[in-house]
Amino acid sequence: MTAAWTLAVARDDLSDTSMLAGDVPDPGDGEALLRVDRVGLTANNVTYAVLGVAMHYWDFFPAEAGLGLVPLWGFAEVVASRTDGVEVGSRVYGYLPPASHLLVQPARVDERGFRDASAHRQHLPSPYNVYALTTADPAYESNRENLQVLYRPLFYTSFMLADQLDDNGYFGADVLVLSSASSKTAYGAAFLLRGNGPEVVGLTSAANVEFTESLGCYDRVVAYDAIPELDASRPTAYLDVLGSADVRARVRERVGEQLVHDAVIGITSQEQFASAAPSGPRPTFFFAPDQIHKRTGDWGREELDRRFGKAWQRFAPVVEGWVDVVEQHGPEALREVWLEVLAGKSAPRTGHILTL
Ligand SMILES: NC(=O)c1ccc[n+]([C@@H]2O[C@H](COP(=O)([O-])OP(=O)(O)OC[C@H]3O[C@@H](n4cnc5c(N)ncnc54)[C@H](OP(=O)(O)O)[C@@H]3O)[C@@H](O)[C@H]2O)c1
Repeated sequence: MTAAWTLAVARDDLSDTSMLAGDVPDPGDGEALLRVDRVGLTANNVTYAVLGVAMHYWDFFPAEAGLGLVPLWGFAEVVASRTDGVEVGSRVYGYLPPASHLLVQPARVDERGFRDASAHRQHLPSPYNVYALTTADPAYESNRENLQVLYRPLFYTSFMLADQLDDNGYFGADVLVLSSASSKTAYGAAFLLRGNGPEVVGLTSAANVEFTESLGCYDRVVAYDAIPELDASRPTAYLDVLGSADVRARVRERVGEQLVHDAVIGITSQEQFASAAPSGPRPTFFFAPDQIHKRTGDWGREELDRRFGKAWQRFAPVVEGWVDVVEQHGPEALREVWLEVLAGKSAPRTGHILTL
């Protein structure tokens, strides 16, 4: 029997890791076993851990008390199955644990894939429970698996964010300010937003200004320490991917009454959310599955997939030039990359891929 492994982190200290060994589970009736094959790691995964309790991200892949399994996106192979329609040897894309294997209970099985109906996942947002077969996914390209692993969930967020802004007339904003502008989620949104009307401004660390400017998807790039240079005369929306209370306070102070919308998209800062000053629009959380839900109602799932596919086909060839994919292998490499991304030490050009 091949051994199984799981990389766990302490919930109260995300840098405290343990590699747990175990036996490979045997699927029971109605179950299937996935072998995790290829995953990515970005600041987004760190956010899943930081919000593990508050947003239930720890609930996807249960662990023993005090430990957490950080969810990852990627590809897995079905290596054993006792579910009709789920074939051994098929390849799926979905939400995976930092582990060698995942036991699932496939439901709503069709030619597109299945959902994991495991009881502990049923209260969690449904887009995270889908396993899509590569054979039926219109956006799948075998030579672009790494891009899909790194960008699919992030660019879906960028796409839904740009769509929500358009859907709401940009909340009346003439200027859109995105923080953590060097992050994949922010620059994907900027790519979609630029040229639609409002000016798109990127806020980033001084060290990442050059990289962010080089992308050419922002009309203007401003360092966090140059916030007083933001234009305070035009209606502005703050699209906060950094999630820093200090930067939010400085943006709000600078833009003042011209702030028309304040959305919290991410927390690359790893801070827990702190409420904003009492004056001006209250920050609202942007959660991609909410807008997915709305558009599924407005357009239907197929039209939403078609529009996303079109945007992805425009973005993929461009973003290939923006990222250096660094591929490493095995559980120890996964642990090292986790610690590097957690510490914020990865360059914005780097896209970490792990084959396991
Ligand atoms: N709301 C949603 O539905 C949703 C969905 C997907 C992603 N997100 C969020 O979007 C954010 C970006 O994720 P990503 O995967 O796109 O990021 P990424 O590409 O890995 O972003 C890297 C950038 O994040 C900033 N950063 C990284 N580590 C940091 C640290 N320790 N301290 C401070 N800043 C740090 C730096 O940008 P700067 O120097 O430019 O600040 C860095 O260049 C995450 O918080 C993620 O959770 C939200």
